[in-house]
Amino acid sequence: MDTLILGIESSCDETSASVVKNGRYILSNVISSQVDLHKKYGGVVPEIASRKHVELIMPVINQALEEAGTPLDAIDAIGVTYGPGLVGALLVGLTAAKAIAYTTGKPLVGVHHIEGHIAANYLQYPELEPPFVCLVASGGHSHIVQVESYSKFEILGQTRDDAAGEAFDKISRAIGLGYPGGPLIDRYAAQGNSSAVRFPRVQFEDGSLDFSFSGLKTAVLNHLNRLAQTGEQVNIPDIAASFQQAVVDVLVRNTIAAAKMKGMGKIALAGGVAANSQLRSQMKSQAQKHGIEVLYPALVLCTDNAAMIGCAAYFEYERGNISGLDLNAVPGLKLG
Ligand code: KG4
Ligand code: ZN
Repeated sequence: MDTLILGIESSCDETSASVVKNGRYILSNVISSQVDLHKKYGGVVPEIASRKHVELIMPVINQALEEAGTPLDAIDAIGVTYGPGLVGALLVGLTAAKAIAYTTGKPLVGVHHIEGHIAANYLQYPELEPPFVCLVASGGHSHIVQVESYSKFEILGQTRDDAAGEAFDKISRAIGLGYPGGPLIDRYAAQGNSSAVRFPRVQFEDGSLDFSFSGLKTAVLNHLNRLAQTGEQVNIPDIAASFQQAVVDVLVRNTIAAAKMKGMGKIALAGGVAANSQLRSQMKSQAQKHGIEVLYPALVLCTDNAAMIGCAAYFEYERGNISGLDLNAVPGLKLG
């Protein structure tokens, strides 16, 4: 008997709903991005995001059911992100999910957003099973996670200040490329020289696998100020490529060190930054030298989407981890 999960995601600026079969197969994955709406402000405006989610959530859910050819009756459980994220945004998806669960009597499964990002790999690789090391790098998080099982996680390293995606977004704004920064920097960097400027790569002396990106951000801003003072021309592709290389170097270095420390033969990438072309290729080539395989989801499964939430919810549902209808949004929800 197949298990069908209706997945719902609204933690940031994507309103998304999906139908996922047996935690591995996507029957639909409708994503309505608000990127164009937030672009002119240079980042996500929480109040605008919440209001837009309210408008979109039911049409997106209905479309996901329709595209999957699955009536609501045939759904086994409703999986929804309840944190971390923007509280107003989270509440919209969560309230819709609770209303559907209440009226249909179907179980509600609250999902941790990062657990969802990790689960995107189960959709990409239907044979993949834990354990493996996962680098989750997005606009809000940069975590190296030991995925012990479908529901057990150990954080091996995390950012002590800015998230990797946040650094991409801030530097993109500083060099006038706009929002969201990751894909734009990725594109401009392809025309630039990644050794043009040597930006810092933070390594903590205590042997920790944590990251720090705020010093890198300051170094890029200082470099731009220096150029402005001396009247030198800013070579945007070179700065984009040099900055990107500094981020990729530390993400690759620490993730491979984590995999070696844990004796893992597999590294999975997840989150919006996992869409980065250089991160993908350099992680792969560096890991290969240590006999470690690198996995990453298709681009659409790296950035926020509800299929990954439906997938993570399936594994929670299977082990009986059902949420009460009093489930609340938890903006700072911790993993593990
Ligand atoms: O996972 P996601 O959609 O949302 C969060 O949970 O934060 O990640 C969005 C982040 C943004 O910071 C965006 O700039 C970054 O992922 N991103 C990228 C790329 N595509 C998206 N960063 C680097 N290179 C990319 N190609
Ligand atoms: Zn995300």
